[in-house]
Amino acid sequence: MSLAAKFTHLLPPEAAHAAAMLGLDAYHALRMSWMIASDLKPNPQQVMGLTFDNPIGLAAGLDKNGDHIDALGALGFGFIEVGTVTPKPQDGNPKPRLFRLPEHQAIINRMGFNNKGLEHMVGRIKRRKYSGVLGVNIGKNATTPLENALDDYRQCLDAVHGYADYIVVNLSSPNTPNLRQLQFGEPLKHLVSSLREQCYRLDAVNEKRVPLVVKIAPDMSHDDLLSVADTLMEASVDGIIATNTTIERDAVLGHPYAQEAGGLSGVPVRSRSTEVVTALYQHLKGELPIIGVGGIFDERSAAEKREAGASLLQLYTGFIYRGSDAISAAARGFKQANLSR
Ligand SMILES: Cc1cc2nc3c(=O)[nH]c(=O)nc-3n(C[C@H](O)[C@H](O)[C@H](O)COP(=O)(O)O)c2cc1C
Repeated sequence: MSLAAKFTHLLPPEAAHAAAMLGLDAYHALRMSWMIASDLKPNPQQVMGLTFDNPIGLAAGLDKNGDHIDALGALGFGFIEVGTVTPKPQDGNPKPRLFRLPEHQAIINRMGFNNKGLEHMVGRIKRRKYSGVLGVNIGKNATTPLENALDDYRQCLDAVHGYADYIVVNLSSPNTPNLRQLQFGEPLKHLVSSLREQCYRLDAVNEKRVPLVVKIAPDMSHDDLLSVADTLMEASVDGIIATNTTIERDAVLGHPYAQEAGGLSGVPVRSRSTEVVTALYQHLKGELPIIGVGGIFDERSAAEKREAGASLLQLYTGFIYRGSDAISAAARGFKQANLSR
């Protein structure tokens, strides 16, 4: 761990996050990002009709407002996903809501989609200089009743379509009450098919094809997972992100923070999210691209997701603990797995 990382890890987690992002922006403004960037070789991937310079992306939630796209892009990620953004700005849950569990290389968070809202996000993504692939992850406001969730997703889709390279419908945060119910049965069919149609219409208006992707939770039965996969396939989405954080705590039992409400990420979610990728890949016979995320820290954990069938990988917690080293290690792991697949 670098000295700067050691320093920020002494601060409370949210303050550390803010300090680290300020630091990143400063490095970028001074054209010094190369000093902390990953030493990646290009490894272009064609997925969902897009070209990714390399297959390792930043997962949603770190840059919720699109405020740091250029600085993060300079670190060597093959793609950046911003958000989750909701139509109106919202504060999220009361603090504390972010907990580090270094003994487990894990984080528990119940941020609750704290974000500055769509208008702010659109302003930021319009002005970005970063030329890599940019995904925008969209959600619903906490105050919007679940039965009106589609209105929020529609509003977000409309607003970001012109500026995003792909769009992610996030149905899997454990921190927006009942959101995960939208992942199943009729509500899922209705929501995804409506957004699919709207996205095609916007593709025609904006004269660009923007892939529509759905992000799912790791916490569902095998049967539910397969029926979610069938619904997403029938609705002609372009890809699936597997997975979000878990509400399971088995792997961290006994830790002082184990019973904090929220989603657990990092090493403890790694094997479950790989199982989800495997099940999706086998069921869909490779017909829908899968973006694998959950506990990727190093070569082995990246290779494991690739071998399970992921076309691209994302990281969040690995990047928090290891910085850019996690990006290069994941890229090496992806490449090695690719060769032996
Ligand atoms: C603090 C924090 C905030 C997150 N916020 C979001 C979010 O707003 N939207 C989303 O789709 N995923 C969010 N995630 C989930 C991550 O994108 C990722 O799916 C999950 O953490 C598993 O990957 P990891 O083990 O590499 O962290 C968040 C994760 C963390 C740790």
